Amino acid sequence: MKDSHEKALVTTRRDFGRKSIQTLLTVSLLEHLCSGNLLAGEARLSTEKWLNEVNEVGLSVKNQKLTQTEWQKQVEDLLSNQINLPELLKLVDFESIARNPRLVSNGARSHRPRMPKVKGGPDRYVFGQQIFALRKGCSVVPHGHNNMATAFLILKGNFHGRHYDRVTDEEKHMIIRPTIDSRFGPGQTSSISDEKDNVHWFKAEDEPAFIFNIHVFGVSPKSQKRTSRVYLDPFGEKLDDGLIRARLIGHDEAHRKFG
Ligand SMILES: [Fe+2]
Repeated sequence: MKDSHEKALVTTRRDFGRKSIQTLLTVSLLEHLCSGNLLAGEARLSTEKWLNEVNEVGLSVKNQKLTQTEWQKQVEDLLSNQINLPELLKLVDFESIARNPRLVSNGARSHRPRMPKVKGGPDRYVFGQQIFALRKGCSVVPHGHNNMATAFLILKGNFHGRHYDRVTDEEKHMIIRPTIDSRFGPGQTSSISDEKDNVHWFKAEDEPAFIFNIHVFGVSPKSQKRTSRVYLDPFGEKLDDGLIRARLIGHDEAHRKFG
């Protein structure tokens, strides 16, 4: 039988072991939180600053002070790291949209919430915004863009998201290269410009599913092309180097096939 001194030592060792594990857990949890940016809530921007910031990067890309790919990086960071999702949802009055999403049986329904004016901010924002609401199995159909930059933030539901680089324009086709093929959930972002990942296609896996979108028009002043969507069928002829010759199609065919 152990004497009281030995018992005390065992207890102390056991306590020490327990405490070390607790300390380790706390430290690793803190490291995890820091690396995952979850402690950054206080460091995030107020909605006023955030709106100003989104407007500033929009102006910069329109005035060629920022490259389009740099805009993509910065706006995705603003959407995913610089504002808390609940704040953004309040900003676009998501609650009232979610209460009555007016889903369509093909494609996506677009809601256009107004952004509030902020003290000291611009009278008109250089960027536009919309929220897409979708039924399960419906899509923001495959399309490319002329003369615009746009970013998506998934608000609710999961999506199968695909992006393609627009490599060459032909008379009746677009040569594209698949760049992203992934599952996107709430809080995840993607973006588009004339320079990178120009074509996208998002298919909803849940219902209702919502995407928030920010866009800036007229980002390529030298372009003769009017800002617009270009619908295509990405299941085209397979070429060398992973390229695809995708047939250009109209809005109706795109929605019949992929909506
Ligand atoms: Fe688009």
